Amino acid sequence: MLVVSIGGSPSQRSRSAVLLDLSKRWLQQQGVEVVSYQVRDFAAEDLLHARFDSPKVIDLLQQIENADGLLIATPVYKASFAGALKTILDLLPERALSHKVVLPMATGGSIAHMLAVDYALKPVLSALKAQEMLHGIFAEDSQIAYGEGSAQPQLVPVLEKRLHEALEQFYSALARRPKPLDPRLLNERLLSARWSI
Ligand SMILES: Cc1cc2nc3c(=O)[nH]c(=O)nc-3n(C[C@H](O)[C@H](O)[C@H](O)COP(=O)(O)O)c2cc1C
Repeated sequence: MLVVSIGGSPSQRSRSAVLLDLSKRWLQQQGVEVVSYQVRDFAAEDLLHARFDSPKVIDLLQQIENADGLLIATPVYKASFAGALKTILDLLPERALSHKVVLPMATGGSIAHMLAVDYALKPVLSALKAQEMLHGIFAEDSQIAYGEGSAQPQLVPVLEKRLHEALEQFYSALARRPKPLDPRLLNERLLSARWSI
């Protein structure tokens, strides 16, 4: 199983990235391959000028095409998701998320904007035809401590529990998702069906 992880925070020290890192570790323990991207890995010019032909963008599109699922995390900015993340989503083809399971996550300064995932991010992911979208995780800043020095980042127990439950649901959804039929296989099946008539 392959999962693509996209982090939408422009900050080097990022709480939403902590959620993604912990999720990646959890999924890898279940044998899932996780390929990670952060908005700040992309050249700003590629995103602002919508350069579909940039090697980094082509690489992302190919990984998403091959992926079974997507983890996506964003900071809440001005009651919505990060604009830098939108510049990446705008580069994806219309059906980029069809046949894929998506787990959205967001971190914010207060719970006042905890619905930003539902009213801002999820509609965009639906427009990209995500097959199954899980409820998602919202965390307040006070629930996530960066690991200082060599210490690991810490989540408050209630958030850690919610994250693990969401990841278990994500993993089950990945396992049961109907795979798109390989066009070569379809051709072979049609040929053998004709012979068997
Ligand atoms: C420009 C800016 C706008 C923000 N707007 C909001 C907001 O509208 N609502 C909110 O709850 N938090 C807001 N925050 C706080 C961030 O969402 C919060 O600190 C988040 O965890 C940052 O995520 P990151 O560490 O992954 O960058 C804002 C922060 C910045 C820098």
